[in-house]
Amino acid sequence: MSILITFEGIEGSGKTTQISRLKNHLIARGHAVVVTREPGGCQIADRIRSILLDPANDAMTSRAELLLYAAARAQHVSEVIRPALQTGQIVLCDRFTDATLAYQGYGRKLDSALIKHLNELATDSITPDLTLLFDLPVERGLGRALQREKITQDSSEGRFEREALDFHRAVRNGYLDLAAAEPDRFRRIDADRPIDTIQAELQVLIDRVYETLQP
Ligand code: TMP
Repeated sequence: MSILITFEGIEGSGKTTQISRLKNHLIARGHAVVVTREPGGCQIADRIRSILLDPANDAMTSRAELLLYAAARAQHVSEVIRPALQTGQIVLCDRFTDATLAYQGYGRKLDSALIKHLNELATDSITPDLTLLFDLPVERGLGRALQREKITQDSSEGRFEREALDFHRAVRNGYLDLAAAEPDRFRRIDADRPIDTIQAELQVLIDRVYETLQP
């Protein structure tokens, strides 16, 4: 049975680590799983990702940024997400439409109704079955993200990490608002806990959701 599960949260919320563990868990249970991410997930969208996240592009306007996220998403949905769902797979997607509402809407203050329209256009109306919001204080998340950048010595994707604390606080609050508005789709995960504790909670949650979504 096909399900689209999206993972959202501020920088350094630990979702990427959890996704790869969850993939192993689901495969061990016999499911066909596709792991993907936004922006990116296919060749054209990955090229747009490089433009979006390059710190050298600090002159990019908020509107240009919004349209590039939408363009990357349209390609990714068409090439990866829709075909995977059509062949009955579980899709785990690291960020999706809610990221645009949180970052470009709450963060950049672009109109949320306009963003919703663009999301619909880009996804051709595909919506997540479940969205896991990895929530933690912005100081903790950013600390982790900058630490990771230092260890990997890779700052090629750091354009958002360089935003002011207020921007990240607005993004976090945005995510919390979105989750409150759609309690059936969203689950808030306390991301300020050990990796194993979070993973154990996720596995129980996903197994339960899969059971309830069975036709
Ligand atoms: P990542 O670091 O989780 O791969 O995400 C890349 C960055 O892109 C992250 O700072 C959030 C940002 N982003 C948006 O601003 N809008 C979007 O629609 C998406 C998908 C990501």
